[in-house]
Amino acid sequence: MNFYHKYLFPKLLDLTMKRQGMEKLRPDVIHKAFGTVLEIGFGSGLNLPYYTHILKLYALDPSSELYDLAKKRISKASFSIEYIQASAEDIPLPPNSIDTVISTWNLCSIPHPESALKEIYRVLKPDGKFIFIEHGKSPRKSVAQWQKWLTPISKRLAGGCHINRKIDNLITDAGFEIQNLKTFQQKSTPLMFMYTGVAVLKIGASNNIML
Ligand SMILES: C[S@@+](CC[C@H](N)C(=O)[O-])C[C@H]1O[C@@H](n2cnc3c(N)ncnc32)[C@H](O)[C@@H]1O
Repeated sequence: MNFYHKYLFPKLLDLTMKRQGMEKLRPDVIHKAFGTVLEIGFGSGLNLPYYTHILKLYALDPSSELYDLAKKRISKASFSIEYIQASAEDIPLPPNSIDTVISTWNLCSIPHPESALKEIYRVLKPDGKFIFIEHGKSPRKSVAQWQKWLTPISKRLAGGCHINRKIDNLITDAGFEIQNLKTFQQKSTPLMFMYTGVAVLKIGASNNIML
């Protein structure tokens, strides 16, 4: 890992993710979390102030540099938090053990989002919810073309971020049903097309594990 990725990028990411356009989307979404919660791509812990009425939080992220930035925020939380340094592609938790999985701006950065979604599906209880704020491919052809051209640069400079993934298709292909998808263009960032919503396990989907 070079100097940029080890020292500069985590601080830049923390600053970027605090921008008003992003910050204002967090409360309404995180507020829906209930019970035992797993947050994948926990980053520097920017969602922590918005959790209400949850029993326990598993905070999962592979980056120890971001964990260092999150520690202060973790120490202020009023609920139990267990930090897990791991990839969402291989979640070290048992099947059917989680009420809510939260993901905010992560499916763009995870190398194999299909594997991560399969894992999310596995750990969720049958009546659990996958709640997300993500960004990805724009429905506007001209914007989607720019996203395709610029994704190689964004991957290099922004922690593996693909700006052109079709987020709703990835989620439904993993066996989820999206209950209330909202899509919109992020005004401050023209190449950021937003997808936010709540997904539940589709009844009868083949990768659900019943105990
Ligand atoms: C754009 S940041 C978002 C951080 C945080 N979710 C937020 O809303 O501020 C992307 C996050 O995905 C994490 N990430 C990258 N690869 C991952 C993986 N394989 N599994 C889980 N998280 C991953 C990064 O470490 C980083 O924290």
